[in-house]
Amino acid sequence: MTHKVVLVTGGSSGIGSATCRFLHDKGCTVYGTSRKTANGDTLNGIKMLRLDLNDHSTIQKAVAYLIEKEGRLDVLVNNAGVGIAGAVEDTSSEETESVFRTNVFGVLECCRAVIPQMRKQGGGRIINISSIAGEFGLPFRGVYCATKSALDLLSETMRMELSPANIHVSYIQPGDIRTEINTNRIIARRSKSPESPHYKRFQQIYREISEEVSSAKSPETVARTVYEVMNIARPKMRYPTASFIQRLSLTLNRILPKHLFQKMLMRKYPVE
Ligand SMILES: NC(=O)c1ccc[n+]([C@@H]2O[C@H](COP(=O)([O-])OP(=O)(O)OC[C@H]3O[C@@H](n4cnc5c(N)ncnc54)[C@H](OP(=O)(O)O)[C@@H]3O)[C@@H](O)[C@H]2O)c1
Repeated sequence: MTHKVVLVTGGSSGIGSATCRFLHDKGCTVYGTSRKTANGDTLNGIKMLRLDLNDHSTIQKAVAYLIEKEGRLDVLVNNAGVGIAGAVEDTSSEETESVFRTNVFGVLECCRAVIPQMRKQGGGRIINISSIAGEFGLPFRGVYCATKSALDLLSETMRMELSPANIHVSYIQPGDIRTEINTNRIIARRSKSPESPHYKRFQQIYREISEEVSSAKSPETVARTVYEVMNIARPKMRYPTASFIQRLSLTLNRILPKHLFQKMLMRKYPVE
């Protein structure tokens, strides 16, 4: 089948917007989502649905609307998500919970909403946008790393559980990608206070993190990977989509003793 029906969560900006455009140009029927649109709106020529990962009723309604219009759903791209920065000790329970609600619980709810339809139609694909940050902890991004790591393991489990139903689950691990994530990232409140023991280092490293994103690859690189995963006969479990150095870091993390790998990370992101 070439003409696929695809749902991309978070189609209003960054990777999601680029993926919607790319898949639309390839002839797919694409639905993006945003918290700020209504079901049936269009944004830059892309059909949009209203979906808030923190409000599960919007997820159910958005999926029901799409299925009523199209009669099927071939691919779910779980892209919507949020970044958070701050030392773990500076991040409150409320801040931690809110990011887990968006990046993990909301994504799982999207999976649960589409799986019955995919079972009914004899198969489908779920592509989760994770991050290379899901494979190892990074200073001042611990909570974000933990949400992506949780997503990776849930994806791996669902891949096994859903394969008998011909539903293929994969995850993509982007490195830094030039999007609005810098603007939309939550900064743990206490990180901004000189009372934090990490205050000075955090300011410096946060600037670096933001600059790395601003000068990174364009989101179309991830869109291209999504298209590949959608169309390959037997998709693999994970697809790193990152610069050479960032892909190398994945390999080094797998082969080096952990203390050596952490030494390298601490050299790049020194903590006092
Ligand atoms: N940029 C990077 O360097 C990078 C690297 C690795 C992984 N990623 C991952 O890639 C995905 C997309 O990020 P991006 O870089 O494209 O960021 P972005 O430009 O900030 O876009 C985020 C998208 O997610 C949606 N969103 C945010 N919170 C939401 C919520 N509670 N409910 C529903 N939708 C929500 C936003 O839609 P509305 O605001 O319109 O609702 C927006 O479309 C994320 O999962 C991110 O973790 C990004």
